[in-house]
Amino acid sequence: MNILIQYGIRGDGASGIVTSVETAIREGRLGAGARLPTVRELARLLRVSPTTAAAAYRTLGVRGLVHAEGRRGTRVSPRPPLPIRPVAPAAPHLRDLSLGNPDPRLLPSLQRPLARTSRRPGLYGEPANRPELLALAEHQLESDGSPGGAVAVVGGALDGIERVLQAHLRPGDRVAVEDPGYVAVFDLLAALGLVAEPVALDDAGPLPDELAHALRGRVAAFIVTPRAQNPTGAALDAARARELRSILARHPEVLVVEDDHAGPIAGVPAVSLCHGRERWALVRSVSKSLGPDLRVAILAGDPTTVARVEGRQSVGTGWVSHLLQDLVTTLWSDPATGRLLGRAAETYAIRRSALLGALATHGIAAHGRSGLNVWVPVPEEAPVLAALAQAGWALRAGERYRIRSAPAVRITTAALASGEADRVAAALARALRPAGRRASA
Ligand SMILES: Cc1ncc(COP(=O)(O)O)c(C=O)c1O
Repeated sequence: MNILIQYGIRGDGASGIVTSVETAIREGRLGAGARLPTVRELARLLRVSPTTAAAAYRTLGVRGLVHAEGRRGTRVSPRPPLPIRPVAPAAPHLRDLSLGNPDPRLLPSLQRPLARTSRRPGLYGEPANRPELLALAEHQLESDGSPGGAVAVVGGALDGIERVLQAHLRPGDRVAVEDPGYVAVFDLLAALGLVAEPVALDDAGPLPDELAHALRGRVAAFIVTPRAQNPTGAALDAARARELRSILARHPEVLVVEDDHAGPIAGVPAVSLCHGRERWALVRSVSKSLGPDLRVAILAGDPTTVARVEGRQSVGTGWVSHLLQDLVTTLWSDPATGRLLGRAAETYAIRRSALLGALATHGIAAHGRSGLNVWVPVPEEAPVLAALAQAGWALRAGERYRIRSAPAVRITTAALASGEADRVAAALARALRPAGRRASA
C-alpha cells in the first residue's frame, strides 16, 4: 500500500503535512520508531517541492515528534510529546521490578500533614514561593555543602530541568547527557529540539575524558545526576567531582544542571559540580523521598537562571500550588520525617546490596552504588527479559536508557522483599547461562 495512504499523510504545504503526521502519531497509525519516507520520496508522493517536505520534517524534528537518522532517513521519536497510549503495565501475574518507583511503605503518610496544612483557600496575589519552604531548603542545601545561590520552587525535577534549559538554550543546541541516562531526559531534549551528546560513565559518575570530548563538541549544557543515577545507580565521589570540575572550568559558558531527584534517600552524600560556576542549576526533587505525586522540587542556581525560571513561571502557571508547598514544609519541619528518610535510605541500600551480592554469587557483575535501581549488563536484552518473564519477573529493558552504551536490564530494588534478591538473581543466572549448558542443566 502507498505509505501515505496507509498513514494518512497528506497536505500541499509544510503545515498541512506536519498536522497530518502529528495526527497519524496521535491516533497510533504511526508508532514510535516508525520510519517515514525520505524527503525526496515524500515530495514526489505528495507532489510538493523537496523544500516543502524538508520544512515539514524540520518542524516535526524541532517539536520532538520525529528525529533524523542521517542517511537512514527519518523516524518517529521513541516517545513523541503527544498524548499517546502509555506503555502497557506488566502482566498482573509478574512481580514488577520495572518501574523505578520508591517503596510506598517508605514514604511518609500524608494524613496528619494534610490535616495540619488545611487552611483558608489560597488566592491570587500571594508570593509564588513559600518563604518557610525556601528557608528550609536553603538550610538543607547549606548543611550538605551545596553551592549557595538563588532558590525557587518548581513542579518536580523534570519541570525544573525543562525550565532551566528553556531559560538558556535554543532548538538545535547540544546537551551533554549521561549514557546510560534517564530516558525522560532524553525524551525531554527531543521534545525541545535539543541534541543529546552522550557521555559514558562508571560507578563514580561521568568519565572525565568523555566529558572533555563532549565539551569540545560545543555543548551548551551538561545534565548530570550527582547520585542515584538512573539507571546505573552511579554517584559522584569527591575525587571524580574534582576532576570533572576542573574540566568544566575550561568551559565557563556551559550551563551545568544537576538532577538530584532522589535527594536524601540516595544513600550517599550530596556532591556538586556547580561551585563557582557562572550558569548552573541544582534541582532537588521530593519525588523519591516524600512521593512522586507531590510534584515539588527546589531549584537552586545562579541568580540569572533562577530569575528567568521564576519570570517565565510567573507569566504561565504562576506558582507551584501552595497546598503542596505547605505540605512539604510541614513534612520537612517534622523530626519524624527526618528519621523516616534516614531509615528509607538505609533500607534502599540494604535492598540494592542484597541483589548485587546475590548476583555476584552467580558471577554476574552489576551496578548500583546508590538509589533505587540495579543495572545489569547483558549480551542481549530481549531474550533475558523474556526468560525472566517466564520465571515470573518483569524487568526494564535498558534500550531506551542507552545512546551508545551496551545492552543491560534495569531492576528496581526499592521494594525488594527478603528472599527476592536470591530468586531474581538465580533466574537471571539461568537466563544468562550459555544455551548448551542451559539445556543440560
Ligand atoms: C534521574 C531522574 N530524574 C528525574 C526524575 C523525575 O523526577 P520528578 O518526579 O521530580 O520530575 C526521575 C524519576 O525517576 C529520575 O530517575
